[in-house]
Amino acid sequence: MPILPIVIGPDNPILRKKTKPVPAVTKDVKQLIKDMIETMKEASGVGLAAPQVARTERICIAVIGGKITPLINPVISGKSKEKDLDQEGCLSLPNVWLMIPRSVEITVTYKDLKGKKQQRKLKNFDARVVQHEVDHLEGVLIVDYATS
Ligand code: NI
Repeated sequence: MPILPIVIGPDNPILRKKTKPVPAVTKDVKQLIKDMIETMKEASGVGLAAPQVARTERICIAVIGGKITPLINPVISGKSKEKDLDQEGCLSLPNVWLMIPRSVEITVTYKDLKGKKQQRKLKNFDARVVQHEVDHLEGVLIVDYATS
């Protein structure tokens, strides 16, 4: 399982491209996810999105409830109005730490590795990580949030 190079920089066009949903959980998709997990572990991250390894699939991984969870074609279908502010970093933006507002609770739908549709309600840290990763899939980075 190769560790992949992580794409760096707020102005890198690779990180700004919107990703495309994958039609099926193929061998290639599974291999990509395996490689992303290895890459994230090596970098001591809590989440990683496909554009960060120069891929265009709508796929990310996130630590949810302490467990590395692959999210295939994730969509945030519900967000609480209540938000909180906390510091975030990003493996693609070394040494950048910003206070980012995020919904405290979200509902996310996605496909798991077996291609089965999942819907989960997440709170607090788990919700924050998934919002950060889904932002990546839309080409959005933490530097895009106006901080005051
Ligand atoms: Ni990030």
